[in-house]
Amino acid sequence: MPRAEHKRLPPSSDAGALAPAQAAAAAEAAEAAAPASAITANSVVVLDYGGQYSQLIARRVRECGTFSMLLPHHVGAEQVAKLQPQGLILSGGPASVYADGAPPLDPALLGLGIPVLGICYGMQLLALELGGRVEQAEVGEFGRSQLSVGVSGRLLAHTPEEQSCWMSHRDTVYEPPPGFTGLAASTSSPVAAFESLERDIYGIQYHPEVVHTPYGQQVLANFLGDICRCDGSWSARSVIEEQVERIRTQVGDGHAICGLSGGVDSTVAALLVHRAIGDRLTCVFVDGGLMRKNEGEQVVSAFRDHFQVPLVAVDAEDRFLGALSGVSDPEQKRKLIGSEYIRVFEEEASKLKDARFLVQGTLYSDVIESGGGSGAATIKSHHNVGGLPEDLEFELVEPLRALFKDEVRAVGAELGLPERFVWRQPFPGPGLAIRIVGGEVTRERLDVLREADSILQEEIRKAGLYRDLWQSFCVLPDIRTVGVQGDERTYGTVIAIRAVTSDDAMTADWARLPYDLLEQIANRMINEIRPVGRVVLDITSKPPGTIEWE
Ligand code: XMP
Repeated sequence: MPRAEHKRLPPSSDAGALAPAQAAAAAEAAEAAAPASAITANSVVVLDYGGQYSQLIARRVRECGTFSMLLPHHVGAEQVAKLQPQGLILSGGPASVYADGAPPLDPALLGLGIPVLGICYGMQLLALELGGRVEQAEVGEFGRSQLSVGVSGRLLAHTPEEQSCWMSHRDTVYEPPPGFTGLAASTSSPVAAFESLERDIYGIQYHPEVVHTPYGQQVLANFLGDICRCDGSWSARSVIEEQVERIRTQVGDGHAICGLSGGVDSTVAALLVHRAIGDRLTCVFVDGGLMRKNEGEQVVSAFRDHFQVPLVAVDAEDRFLGALSGVSDPEQKRKLIGSEYIRVFEEEASKLKDARFLVQGTLYSDVIESGGGSGAATIKSHHNVGGLPEDLEFELVEPLRALFKDEVRAVGAELGLPERFVWRQPFPGPGLAIRIVGGEVTRERLDVLREADSILQEEIRKAGLYRDLWQSFCVLPDIRTVGVQGDERTYGTVIAIRAVTSDDAMTADWARLPYDLLEQIANRMINEIRPVGRVVLDITSKPPGTIEWE
């Protein structure tokens, strides 16, 4: 199903698969994204060899209070050195070290004078490069394993002799390189960890970053603290003052404009920029009538009344609904909404003659995904504002480029953003329009859907489940079904409930909402919304389904 402006997050392995030409851009982006003090005092580089957990390693490092930059493996030792990290982590990866085209280790990385930790594939690369024995085992080791620690050394310090860990490999290290000490073994891995204090090189076969490795965070803390001497002082919150300074330097006495969507990213980006340049920021909120109940009012009142950020709110409902009239094809809807948004935004931007800067809530995952692309006027088509054309000549201000989503939430909370915004579930750019399925998007249908959605959200919040769900929403298919209410036959609208759990929207499971809650929701929808005659529950996971219905 093609989607014009669909923000799909690829698996982290895509970062490892970037073309070499993009590697330099990714390193530049990391440099631009890094808090100034982090580059000199408190950061490590994670090189991504395509492992599914590479982003997770970067996040876990940050949870230890050390800023991390995730770069593709072929970025080159010179560029890593430019970032002045205090340590280097080589991630896992899907390849066998002996496979044709397997991502190699650049030996120059071992000459940077900083500690190196190889995880899984990263450890095997180190073993191979330094003269250890790595072979493909008859049987792989996947899932939970029992680890026996012989010598804890520095890397496994403060962890017990017997512990469980999470493995995912076939190639196995049978002998550590000369001069290295084997630290631990598991059933299928005779050398599950090794280190050489002299070379300042360390390796573990298992995955310290996943929750199934109970002492994993301790291992990372050992590496970052005792070995790399990082001071553990980084936090998402510590970014605020640095970013404010950066924004001031970038914007000078210029003016900026920000398209608000109501989502946490654009909201937090706008607040940071407002803190930096005050009323020289103007936010533009385009309400196309496709938001959820009261959402537009909440954005306007939070920004205009509470934060007192200059805000232009455009009521463009008629324009959007006019453009959508008679249209039911999902892709056409997306295109029409995208281009209508651009038209309205351009009109407003052209009224703000002084605005030379455009604020965007680009996240670190977007930076990794696109392989960098720092600099002016590269406006990504997947962004919420819907792919602004390049002839809108703005310089981008992207204060969240260094942060993962959960870190953006922490910054938002610190900036005093109400909980409702901080923890808002993702909401698609085209809004409710892509939840009216198979028929025309009309005001009446939108109103029914909005009411149903509002009941769903209210009940889910009341049950304390809102934050446990990745998304919860209603869908209105263009069908009617027969029912009976009182003594009358009805022919009513159907509402489908969709609630999913997920970590990243790449995969999702349908949420097992309690029956009593479902009953309460269905009763309320049928009793309170006149046209609704039937409520159904979507029990499709992703894959094979997608989260949205179209
Ligand atoms: P699917 O339906 O592909 O959705 O499982 C994955 C995530 O993306 C959101 N989504 C969109 N977001 N514009 C957006 O900004 C879109 O056209 C769009 N379509 C889906 C969806 O809500 C989910 O979080």
